[in-house]
Amino acid sequence: MGDKTPSCQHGNTGTPQGDTGPVAFARAYAGLPLPATLNWWWTFGAVLVAVLGLMLATGLFLALTYTPDAGLAFSSVESIERRVPYGWLLRAMHMTGASFCMAALYVHILRGLYYRSYLPPRRAVWGSGCALMAMLMVTAFAGYVLPWGQMSYWGADVAGRAVATLPLVGGWLGRMVLGGENPGTATLHRMFVLHFALAFVIIGGIALHVMVLHRRGSSSPSGRLVSARDRMLPFHPYFTVRDMLAVVLVALAFVLVMGLWPELIAEPANYRPANPLHTPVDIEPEWYFLPFYGMMQVVPYQLGGVLLAGGAVAVLFAVPWLDRGGRAGEHPIVRLLALALMVVAAVMAASAGRHHAQGVWLLAGRVAIAVYYAYFLLFLPWLGGAGLPDAQDDDEKEARA
Ligand code: HEM
Repeated sequence: MGDKTPSCQHGNTGTPQGDTGPVAFARAYAGLPLPATLNWWWTFGAVLVAVLGLMLATGLFLALTYTPDAGLAFSSVESIERRVPYGWLLRAMHMTGASFCMAALYVHILRGLYYRSYLPPRRAVWGSGCALMAMLMVTAFAGYVLPWGQMSYWGADVAGRAVATLPLVGGWLGRMVLGGENPGTATLHRMFVLHFALAFVIIGGIALHVMVLHRRGSSSPSGRLVSARDRMLPFHPYFTVRDMLAVVLVALAFVLVMGLWPELIAEPANYRPANPLHTPVDIEPEWYFLPFYGMMQVVPYQLGGVLLAGGAVAVLFAVPWLDRGGRAGEHPIVRLLALALMVVAAVMAASAGRHHAQGVWLLAGRVAIAVYYAYFLLFLPWLGGAGLPDAQDDDEKEARA
């Protein structure tokens, strides 16, 4: 790009005074100044948007034929696969999309953790992202129940029972989720409505997430605070081109997995209709829930397992306050090692979730919980050292504005 590349001022230029309307809005977004140093990890937000767009489009068509009734759901999905023109393709894209969406989400979160994109003044960006993550997880779970295969049924059963262990509200919440004592047609109605409605709330959430990011400005790989010395480039064409290339590459991987390696994501047991009288030997969720499921399995008291598994997701909300922004955290190798350990712990918990909670898997699962939580509760606050008064000021100034 050389020295002739146009660079722009730091901060959002916004629309010219008084200039509103969609064209001005699009121009302001296209011209948004971003640090020139942003790398490929910054393309995963765009990948997420693209995969979610595909999920919405395919989901709307699937919903035209799907029937949320315990006696009809499985056969309605079979009929989508066999009788609806290109129904098999729609369903394959929707199922593959769910896995790609969660994979892209995890990469997006890991990018944020490694580059500490959550530090002030971007706490609100992180918080809105966490809310999106929670909604995506609920949506993915609800969607998995819909085909009413063996794993759908028993997955709903495990979730209902897990929720029911919560003190005070547990019994009521369990019945709210299932619509009764056991999974059935009422569960399917609830899951269908939740799955459908949340998809649109998520779209609103994404708009909010990106709006907040545009107000607070992007972080950069060279440091969480983008200084006035950083060279800035407009979003279009410098970052749109790279985002589009990333989307094309992910689309290629998507087609390969969907066409040649579907067993990577599909669970064969879910191609058998739900049978309330036959509990499968191994009930396990989709891969993206396995770490949390594993944590739930290896704790002797059910409530403890539910709290630790839920806490493993909830702790992400607290990250901007847990990281005190000190010296050790500034060291890229230390940060990378700590993050890698946390990822290994999540994989270990997932492996424990795929096996019976006994012997070496029980031990591995418990060690994994300790290492996973150590990253958030020990590494971030204590190895992080002293606070970040300057950054805190940024946040306060922003809040006052
Ligand atoms: C539906 C899910 C999500 C979508 C569609 C989405 C989309 C995006 C997009 C388009 C960007 C700008 C490009 C980029 O930086 O990659 C972004 C930035 C960001 N997202 Fe998300 N996001 C989602 C979930 C999350 C989650 C779960 C978190 C964290 C828990 C998160 C945290 C962030 C942060 C901190 C940034 C700013 C990065 C920077 O400093 O430049 N996002 N997101």
